[in-house]
Amino acid sequence: MRHLSISSKLFSNNRKKLSARLPGKALSVANANDVLPTNADGSLPLHPNSDLFYLSGIEQEESLLVLFPNAANPKHREILFVREPNEHLKIWEGYKHSKEDAQKISGIQTVYWTTDFENIFQLLAAEAEVFYLNDNEHSRASNEVETRDQRFNEKICSDYPLHKIERLAPHLHELRFCKSAEEIKLIKQAIDVTSRGFRKVLRMVKPGVSEYEIEAEWAKEFIRRRSKFAYTPIVASGENACVLHYLQNDQTCKKGQLLLMDVGACYANYNADLTRTIPVSGKFSRRQKQVYSAVLRVLRQSIENATVGKSLKEWQNDSHDMMTEEMLRLKLITQAEVKKQDPDQPACRKYYMHGLGHSMGLDVHDVCNGQYEFKENSVFTVEPGIYLPEEGFGIRLEDDIQITKNGPVNLMSKIPIEAGEIEEIMNR
Ligand code: GLY
Ligand code: MN
Ligand code: MN
Repeated sequence: MRHLSISSKLFSNNRKKLSARLPGKALSVANANDVLPTNADGSLPLHPNSDLFYLSGIEQEESLLVLFPNAANPKHREILFVREPNEHLKIWEGYKHSKEDAQKISGIQTVYWTTDFENIFQLLAAEAEVFYLNDNEHSRASNEVETRDQRFNEKICSDYPLHKIERLAPHLHELRFCKSAEEIKLIKQAIDVTSRGFRKVLRMVKPGVSEYEIEAEWAKEFIRRRSKFAYTPIVASGENACVLHYLQNDQTCKKGQLLLMDVGACYANYNADLTRTIPVSGKFSRRQKQVYSAVLRVLRQSIENATVGKSLKEWQNDSHDMMTEEMLRLKLITQAEVKKQDPDQPACRKYYMHGLGHSMGLDVHDVCNGQYEFKENSVFTVEPGIYLPEEGFGIRLEDDIQITKNGPVNLMSKIPIEAGEIEEIMNR
């Protein structure tokens, strides 16, 4: 792995929390992700399964984790299955975990080869009554391609039709929503790498530079710091910034334009999610600065509003109220429009059409089904924006925050955001 090694305590603590939720005679299974095919004999690099990583630190394909907290044999309470290394794999793919390495990474003592899975599982099934099976239950998950978990679940349900099946995902969503100190540390590392990337980019943006050259600058900084892109970066000049999921990054930045960059690093599977909007020529126009300041005010107030117990829906609605005030001042909407607006579709949605933020962690849009309010040590993005295609620009500002019982902590407070500071750095 590119990242430095992580103490197995992080993972054993997570297993402890999950095991405490499993009733007697229940076992849970978490699978690795599939290596996804492309064309011909091609495949994508493995994207580690977040749940398996959360519980074991294991990032190798085909691995499985079984937790059976009340198994009669103490050796069966935590079992990890990994691919057995062989000469062929060694020649073509190189390193695969030995049992000792898998033990060290995960802190799990019982490690078997995956070829032993069926026999061992049959033994466990004879003792267990309930299987907690995993699935991607993110409320916006794409269901087009069957996952390894889903194939596994189908097989288990057909092989053991008389066992009771329960859903593992709701437990993992609840546990993963609040981050441990070790997880916050890794998120901060991803943010630090992102911050370094932004400072590099601030020095090279000027008229004539292309969006892809800017993407390359981010990539260079991320990769040399043991990281990768947390998601496909958005590097959008001018009107492109109004395409919320702009991914082409193929245009040239022009004088007078703004450049919106939504870019985050992923370090050790933990993510950062940053958006900054900067002037291509190093100076905001009067109008650009007016809109920029409006978005920045909404960002700052929304960060302050993110307190333990605050309802996420209310938090979003408060941002609509703030945006409405700002847009009236900017003469983007009228009092008449506000008066007759549908409360579920306020007038400000015309120029601010996305959510205010999302939970973030091992996934950029982290799992959080069933979470309706901020909790202590939940980590959120805050990302208001105003998009004005008819004026040729869009502005979004996005910071990542940690919710604590003493109030929100801005994990990106050191990343330049004041218009004046951005201009000053760009003109140095
Ligand atoms: N980069 C994705 C987002 O901001 O949600
Ligand atoms: Mn983002
Ligand atoms: Mn985001």
